[in-house]
Amino acid sequence: MTNSDSRPTLAILISGRGSNMVAIARTCLSGALNARVTLVISNRPDAPGIEAAREMGIDTAVIDHKAFASRQAFDDALHERLMSVKPDWIVLAGFMRILTEDFVNRWQGRMLNIHPSLLPKYPGLDTHARAIAAGDRHAGASVHIVSPELDAGPVVAQVRVPIESDDTADTLAQRVLQEEHGLYIKALQLCVGKMDQ
Ligand code: GRF
Repeated sequence: MTNSDSRPTLAILISGRGSNMVAIARTCLSGALNARVTLVISNRPDAPGIEAAREMGIDTAVIDHKAFASRQAFDDALHERLMSVKPDWIVLAGFMRILTEDFVNRWQGRMLNIHPSLLPKYPGLDTHARAIAAGDRHAGASVHIVSPELDAGPVVAQVRVPIESDDTADTLAQRVLQEEHGLYIKALQLCVGKMDQ
């Protein structure tokens, strides 16, 4: 990459596996998404996604939330690291931390999250188990702009996945995850593309 690269930049925040992050980074590398991933940050030192990002040649950082006395102190450190690269967009991809209102306001309108439900249904955890227990015929995933209230910002894109009669939360999660990758890329194409207009 050269400094003359004018593509919009993404910083991706993860806590674990990082399959959405890898899908997004690969799509940037292929040119199918007009953006580049300049930093991947994990709040967990043992997140497998950090190694996957390194293998793709992406700069990484670990900011272990357990090292901070308060949510605010963690978010300040996160903000400072992000400001070192000043990304155009922050992409939350399996980032399992609730962010403070202050932090969200600093990046308002430039931060996306993927949530494994058809929002506004089932904000929070255990989305697939809740959809099965409710007898829903469809589950899915949503990409939304992050607002201070958890999983409540404006939805950019959604995908629906049928619930099969023998689905468990795990089998359903696996099928939804397959669809999440394409959904996140579609949402980024919509949002990042808008920057040039
Ligand atoms: C995804 O199901 C996402 O919707 C949820 O956490 C999971 C992250 O998976 N927020 P991965 O780390 O991207 O593989």
